[in-house]
Amino acid sequence: MKRGKKDRTGAAAAFRRAGILGAAVLGACALAGGCKGAEEAAKDSIRIGISLYRGDDTFINNIRQELEKCAKAYEQDTGIKVHLDIEEAKGNQYTQNNQVERFIALDCDVLCINPVDRTAASAVIDKAMAGNVPVVFFNRQPVEEDMNRWDELYYVAVSAKESAVLQGQIVVDSYREEPSLLDADGDGVISYALLEGESSHQDSLIRTEWSIQTLKDAGVPIERITGGIANWERSQASALMEQWLVQYPDMIELVICNNDDMALGAIDAMERAGVSGIQVVGIDGTTPGLQAVESGRMMGTVSSDKEAYAQAIFTIAADKALGRNVAEDIALEDGKYYNCPQKIVKYIKNSYKNE
Ligand code: GAL
Repeated sequence: MKRGKKDRTGAAAAFRRAGILGAAVLGACALAGGCKGAEEAAKDSIRIGISLYRGDDTFINNIRQELEKCAKAYEQDTGIKVHLDIEEAKGNQYTQNNQVERFIALDCDVLCINPVDRTAASAVIDKAMAGNVPVVFFNRQPVEEDMNRWDELYYVAVSAKESAVLQGQIVVDSYREEPSLLDADGDGVISYALLEGESSHQDSLIRTEWSIQTLKDAGVPIERITGGIANWERSQASALMEQWLVQYPDMIELVICNNDDMALGAIDAMERAGVSGIQVVGIDGTTPGLQAVESGRMMGTVSSDKEAYAQAIFTIAADKALGRNVAEDIALEDGKYYNCPQKIVKYIKNSYKNE
């Protein structure tokens, strides 16, 4: 989609949608022609090094696509050329560390890092500090101690607790509207299975805890049948669900999933086994996740605003590359954290039938 000069406010509009209001919200993309400082005027191109923990993660790929759109829009708006060097670390921290070294050798102005091992961000930080290259981490949160090592470190994500509370709310609302949808056998209790992401990921633990807590707080009667770790992956979730359908026949009424890909994996297994009537909830609002909700195969998901997410990463990166004051363009918590907005997406017709 082409974005002409008249559309310069697109980024700011995205931030307004994101709930960050007023003057604090002029995204870097929206700052067309606004770079008046001598240092800024001198720069006609910026180089951003991006490393993704894996290239085959659906949600991360959605963010990558939005980042590429941001860069294009920014070039059109400002005339400043944006070089995005995007690498995939294939789940290997050592590979990612080498990518960081290469980015610095290539003279990248700023790095955007989706860490493989969030507890091992110190190696990335060491290299960035030595090369004096600011870092915007995203999605996999470095420990606070690491984040506090340098004032040129930022972190963009969605709040795991908020995702979980909203996910719990989908179930609470559906149960209140139509209890039989979730309590299919009518025994007064929702029997659920849980699919969790990587055990080392901050989102897995927090999402699991708060999703269940939200149901308990609302007084929804629940009983855990089983659960397992599927590492965010559709195929792993599908294999687990296939096993559970055999192990717990006619017992599972709801599958609570830490993300959409695992929810889709559970649905794949149900479809293969010809099982219907089990409700499934996810988190992310990925493209296939939203399609599954729209078609009624998934009861609901919590969709993060990917445009605002990528815009936040890009705004910080572009500001850093141009020597601008980030605080003028985006409201950050503690001067370094940004949480992207998210919302509930729910299947409207309360009659999920997988037939
Ligand atoms: C989570 C997301 C998952 C996966 C993971 C990767 O926040 O919900 O789908 O992308 O990050 O770190």
